[in-house]
Amino acid sequence: MKAIVIESFGGPEVLRPADVPSPEPAADEVLIEVAYAAVNPVDWKIREGMLAGMFPHEFPVILGWDAAGTVKDTGKNVTGFRIGDRVYAYCRKPKVGFGTYAEFVTMNQAAVAPMPKNVGFAEAACIPLAGLTAWQSLFDAAKIQAGDRVLIHAGAGGVGSFAIQFAKHTGAEVLTTAGGANHAYVKSLGADVAIDYRKENFIDAVRKREPGGIDLVFDAVGNDVQRKSYEVLKKGGKLVSIVNVPSEEEARRYGVEAAHVFVTPDGEQLRRIGALLESGAVRPPALQEMRLEEAAEAQRQSQAGRVRGKIVLKIR
Ligand SMILES: NC(=O)c1ccc[n+]([C@@H]2O[C@H](COP(=O)([O-])OP(=O)(O)OC[C@H]3O[C@@H](n4cnc5c(N)ncnc54)[C@H](OP(=O)(O)O)[C@@H]3O)[C@@H](O)[C@H]2O)c1
Repeated sequence: MKAIVIESFGGPEVLRPADVPSPEPAADEVLIEVAYAAVNPVDWKIREGMLAGMFPHEFPVILGWDAAGTVKDTGKNVTGFRIGDRVYAYCRKPKVGFGTYAEFVTMNQAAVAPMPKNVGFAEAACIPLAGLTAWQSLFDAAKIQAGDRVLIHAGAGGVGSFAIQFAKHTGAEVLTTAGGANHAYVKSLGADVAIDYRKENFIDAVRKREPGGIDLVFDAVGNDVQRKSYEVLKKGGKLVSIVNVPSEEEARRYGVEAAHVFVTPDGEQLRRIGALLESGAVRPPALQEMRLEEAAEAQRQSQAGRVRGKIVLKIR
């Protein structure tokens, strides 16, 4: 099958097209013929070797953790899927290397879900990793409630696009940071307040509106932004980061809770996200489509940190 692989860690130039053997589904796996893969920042982080200590890998590595496509075959224990079903999945496996920048991918049936009926393959590919990250951060870790006042950092990014919508759907008040060019976009997703973090100190902007502090910060930026975020929380508030693991000492000092989330594959949650799309409560993020052969350019753009919504790669 056609795939984009790396033979060593490095810059975007190490990505190259290759013809590699197609995977075969194990007993509990679904073989997906991939129509679109989405690009996530973790792809370039793996390419650079930044996650080498976290996950075992095997060269040649096929990058990519998001897929939308059609079931081509099923293992003997698979009950919920049939050949021809339109499905999507967050395809992270115990070992890195068998990813979705390829014509076929296998994934455990527990991580796969039917695609929402009202979206195409390109839109569906945007959903699994980013949608599950926002879901597990806001609902599982932060236990967001109606009426909460929430600051979502990087609201225009892939994860932020879902986080804004999930928080609004729950009935929270949503403040978000984004460059000015993305303010119309984040407001169209439901943000109540857009803060141009390049022109304005976000701490001042939040305090001006919520002098008593807010209930929750969702941190999709990390580092200095995470450290400053404690300043906007009320006592007993929460910070959930998907970037750096927050310091327990710092959280204690501010009298808040802090947690880190690393997203796990979950077909059941993906079904629930799909239901929100089908009901119209949530829509897919803005997307930019590129060809599989343009994976290096797609990763350059992702690494530059300015993508609005998602980049997807068309596989066939
Ligand atoms: N732990 C996990 O499970 C997990 C899961 C998914 C992602 N992540 C990580 O979370 C981060 C975000 O992921 P993503 O997929 O959402 O990234 P992304 O789609 O590449 O995010 C790009 C967006 O970030 C915005 N941005 C950049 N710097 C910003 C800043 N200082 N303040 C506010 N917005 C800023 C940009 O908006 P402007 O152009 O308007 O500035 C752009 O729209 C990445 O580091 C990723 O690796 C972790």
